Amino acid sequence: MSNLTTFRVWRGDAEGGRFTTYEVEVNEGEVVLDIVHRLQATQAPDLAVRWNCKAGKCGSCSAEINGRPRLMCMTRMSTLPPGESVTLTPMRTFPVIRDLVTDVSFNYAKAREVPAFVPPPGLAPGEYRMAQEDVARSQEFRKCIECFLCQDVCHVVRDHEENKPVYAGPRFLMRVAELDMHPLDAADDTGLDRSRSAQDDHGLGYCNITRCCTDVCPEHITITENALIPLKERAADRKYDPLVWLGSKISRR
Ligand code: SF4
Ligand code: F3S
Ligand code: FES
Repeated sequence: MSNLTTFRVWRGDAEGGRFTTYEVEVNEGEVVLDIVHRLQATQAPDLAVRWNCKAGKCGSCSAEINGRPRLMCMTRMSTLPPGESVTLTPMRTFPVIRDLVTDVSFNYAKAREVPAFVPPPGLAPGEYRMAQEDVARSQEFRKCIECFLCQDVCHVVRDHEENKPVYAGPRFLMRVAELDMHPLDAADDTGLDRSRSAQDDHGLGYCNITRCCTDVCPEHITITENALIPLKERAADRKYDPLVWLGSKISRR
């Protein structure tokens, strides 16, 4: 069974743009990306869209559907309000390249700012041993497909361009948390305090745990509860630990 649905699609580039309205056929079982492909095939051959897997695994097709950050390939038309028009816009937090395609290089720059895992001294990779609980924690964070929807929705940068230089965003604070809680990471031995660095270098204090990042994550990673809040607690523990305080006073002499 098919019907005609009104799509309002933002068309434009870095200079500006506007909405263009299309009436397009929608069939049972289709997702929003199917409709975008139909538009390209029938009415808007030059409509720019980024996609790859159509299976929710490459993280390419991120956009905003009726103002909500989502993967177009994982949003079934049947989940949208019936009989209403559908609005498609590019992710708001990143600069537009063209139509629904944004420049997400901000995220790659932030990824490079997080120091890598420091291997434990005296152990070769095959000799690593970890409790299952620690493995499971890392595995949850490793489900990330780098769609950057959490980065897009976080109000700290979504509404405040000026915060971008000092704020890594939930995806990369989650990476810092993963490494800080990793039992084999030897960053401490190199003088790197990851939870303190989260505060000082990656803007952890800007996050006021609104939880929007967790709500939009297509991999259902519990970013706020499992990464951001524990990282805040660890940073506070370090800051107010009297031994850490005494050590920092002595080391500054
Ligand atoms: Fe996307 Fe979730 Fe990874 Fe954020 S944490 S980039 S929302 S998969
Ligand atoms: Fe932003 Fe997520 Fe914190 S949306 S404010 S990083 S809980
Ligand atoms: Fe790969 Fe949507 S096309 S996640």
